[in-house]
Amino acid sequence: MPFSHLTSHPVRPVVLLTGAAGGIGEKLIHRLVAAGLHVLAFSRRGDTPLQQHVTPVACDLSKPAEIQSTMEGLRKASVPLYAVVHCAGVITPQRMGTCDTQGVSAQLAVNLEAPILLTMLALPLVPKEGRIVFVNSMAALVPLEGSSIYTASKFGLRGFALSLAQDLQPRGIAVSSVFPGAVDTPMLRREIDNGGSVLNFLTQPSTPDDIAAIVERLLKRPKSEIFCPSSDGILAQVMLMMPRVWRMILPVLLKKGLKGKKKYLAGQNKAGV
Ligand SMILES: NC(=O)c1ccc[n+]([C@@H]2O[C@H](COP(=O)([O-])OP(=O)(O)OC[C@H]3O[C@@H](n4cnc5c(N)ncnc54)[C@H](OP(=O)(O)O)[C@@H]3O)[C@@H](O)[C@H]2O)c1
Repeated sequence: MPFSHLTSHPVRPVVLLTGAAGGIGEKLIHRLVAAGLHVLAFSRRGDTPLQQHVTPVACDLSKPAEIQSTMEGLRKASVPLYAVVHCAGVITPQRMGTCDTQGVSAQLAVNLEAPILLTMLALPLVPKEGRIVFVNSMAALVPLEGSSIYTASKFGLRGFALSLAQDLQPRGIAVSSVFPGAVDTPMLRREIDNGGSVLNFLTQPSTPDDIAAIVERLLKRPKSEIFCPSSDGILAQVMLMMPRVWRMILPVLLKKGLKGKKKYLAGQNKAGV
């Protein structure tokens, strides 16, 4: 992928965005372009719709060699990156106890290894005052029954982001994470269809644009961590400190989640989704 056009007549600050073809990514592209940025839209097939101020980039994040060669192209073209927004993610609900190991490396690769590798390779291109944003998940705090690998990858990503922030503080690069609960995107629908946790429905799912707006805000005014909805974030943080209490109130939460799921599905059926 040649990137020379970004340095020969540059222009807008450049943001590298992964998961650009996804539900949240698509909304993010619109917001970032409207905010005066140029978006390097990473997706598996590089098939984000062509538009001004967007450069589609094909890169399969489950393949470290592809990440290396794509970032090498950016390095050779000396494209300065004002920000890196990690939004790609994948969930394959699977109850532990079976020997189906296929989803393990796929989820860990996209959700955890790729953001780490991409950040390392991008950092030489990120100037002082640059930004790194991770679209994490409430699963980084709430252990999700039936999605233990996804949960492990998001717990790991939170740890990486918090350590990274300390490493980059002397360079003036800010690191932020947003932790959404359920978001109404293709990922949530796949998760429901494949037996994902009803804890997703403790509150009504956010819209993808709610999360895109938070990322846009974090680029302007960085903050270490933001939870959406904030009420779920407070509950999750308190419960994480007291796993015993968490286990005690879990049946109540599951009951509430099941009710929320039924309500969400009824809404979807009504809307003909
Ligand atoms: N939806 C939710 O309920 C929810 C809740 C909490 C957190 N999140 C997080 O929000 C982020 C965005 O998710 P979303 O809801 O927008 O889901 P989505 O619509 O399924 O989008 C996910 C994106 O990740 C990309 N991706 C998956 N595997 C990839 C790979 N091997 N290489 C490159 N890209 C890959 C997908 O690319 P393709 O288009 O090529 O498939 C897609 O663009 C994820 O990190 C997710 O964990 C979502």
